[in-house]
Amino acid sequence: MGRAFVYVILGGGVAAGYAALEFARRGGYSRGELCIISEEAVAPYERPALSKGYLLPEGPARLPGFHTCVGANDELLTTKWYKENGIELVLGTKVMAADIRRKTLLTATGETISYKNLIIATGARALKLEEFGISGSDASNICYLRNLDDADKLVNVMRSCSGGNAVVIGGGYIGMECAAALVTNNIKATMVFPENHCMARLFTPQIAEYYENYYTSKGVTFIKGTVLTSFEKDSTRKVTSVILKDGKHLPADMVVVGIGIRANTSLFEGQLLMDQGGIKVNGQMLTSDGSVYAVGDVAAFPIMLFDGVIRRLEHVDSARRTARHAVAAILEPSKPRDIDYLPFFYSRVFTLSWQFYGNNIGEVVHFGDFTTSSPSPRFGAYWVDKSLIKGAFLEGGSREEYEAISNVVRRKVKVANIAELEKQGLMFATQE
Ligand code: FDA
Ligand code: NAD
Repeated sequence: MGRAFVYVILGGGVAAGYAALEFARRGGYSRGELCIISEEAVAPYERPALSKGYLLPEGPARLPGFHTCVGANDELLTTKWYKENGIELVLGTKVMAADIRRKTLLTATGETISYKNLIIATGARALKLEEFGISGSDASNICYLRNLDDADKLVNVMRSCSGGNAVVIGGGYIGMECAAALVTNNIKATMVFPENHCMARLFTPQIAEYYENYYTSKGVTFIKGTVLTSFEKDSTRKVTSVILKDGKHLPADMVVVGIGIRANTSLFEGQLLMDQGGIKVNGQMLTSDGSVYAVGDVAAFPIMLFDGVIRRLEHVDSARRTARHAVAAILEPSKPRDIDYLPFFYSRVFTLSWQFYGNNIGEVVHFGDFTTSSPSPRFGAYWVDKSLIKGAFLEGGSREEYEAISNVVRRKVKVANIAELEKQGLMFATQE
């Protein structure tokens, strides 16, 4: 039993949604020639909503309100939209095996789906505590957050814990955004992570200090430089406390875990070249096989701005752009163009909002007002490497200011004098 398509998008997340939009915009396929295969039961949606609007105590975001591509002010791609555009959605269907040589995918229901061109958009999965030697993270009040089912569980567990205590494991994006959501839902949150400060992959100690102070003022507690070793559970196997390395017990009505991700590459290991924990692609998002592309979190691609260094980015803007680029490359093979991507990360917590562009390498120059009590905080940093601006961070900027910092990074503006840059601060970018 099987079906044959010209184009198959494997995975039904952010990248898949934007690939579909690009196909629809360009045409170049007929009804029945293009499908999306997704393990998820719903059409692609904007995953970032799951740790923000979805967790709001009042007026939370719900589908169909945040299907792709609402995040980019494009069309809302509902199931109806796919139907109207002749794109088949094969939902609730996990692909168990891929044969690149035969150009076939085998689904969990035993169906073989063949393709002429494959776009791999399988994203990533949340790392489990078990992978760090800690058992018992399948308890009913321990929450991970990657997909809609996880978010529904988190919402239900939060509802049952109002006024109680939560322990958040991990000081990265999920930890920070969920801790903010927890206190907003009237649950006390204690964050535990091994680094000296939060968001260690990106923030400088000074930037992290601002957010930690802000979170503390909202009732979040930080326990830094340590990890958990085990859980204490009651007779119903619910966690009642988290035990840390130093033996300390933290009372917990619920636990949220955000300890990083692994790209979903396993179907293709041994068949495609890998790099940076992902599938290696060239500037057109083409893998080591001539009919297979990879996009989004799973793809490791050359960043032109970083002199071609291969990076695997775990952010939504990169998923959107790499997906659209791959479709353009497939449909316009006579006009090969390498992607020229400026890495862009952002987050929104409480009433705060920051953006980062580029690469956080070199000397850091902070600017602005870092006082936590400021009613409208606006501060940031430049990263200067070999006298050139390589990265920039800004909290509380306007649209024009964010554009200005992105421009100085994109243009690698020369810095003649570090002290002058520090003095000028944001004006250095806005006056360029
Ligand atoms: P994505 O994970 O979105 O989709 C992968 C899809 O493939 C899923 O539908 C999955 O089920 C499917 N799949 C995998 N294996 C399969 C198989 N074998 N068979 C069938 N289907 C399979 N980024 C950012 O820049 N700003 C932000 O604010 C946030 N916020 C945020 C919140 C939360 C809660 C998460 C989890 C993530 C973010 N991100 C983010 C990161 C961002 O969401 C992420 O980079 C994109 O979703 C990546 O898009 P992809 O399509 O590559 O993977
Ligand atoms: P992350 O990589 O941002 O952070 C992982 C954190 O896990 C580290 O900061 C560290 O503190 C912690 N950690 C690692 N090992 C640990 C251990 N043994 N015990 C305790 N803590 C440990 O990953 P995440 O926060 O899990 O986020 C998952 C994915 O979702 C990432 O790809 C991220 O980019 C994405 N995401 C992005 C956003 C955003 O861009 N605004 C928001 C949410 C999620």
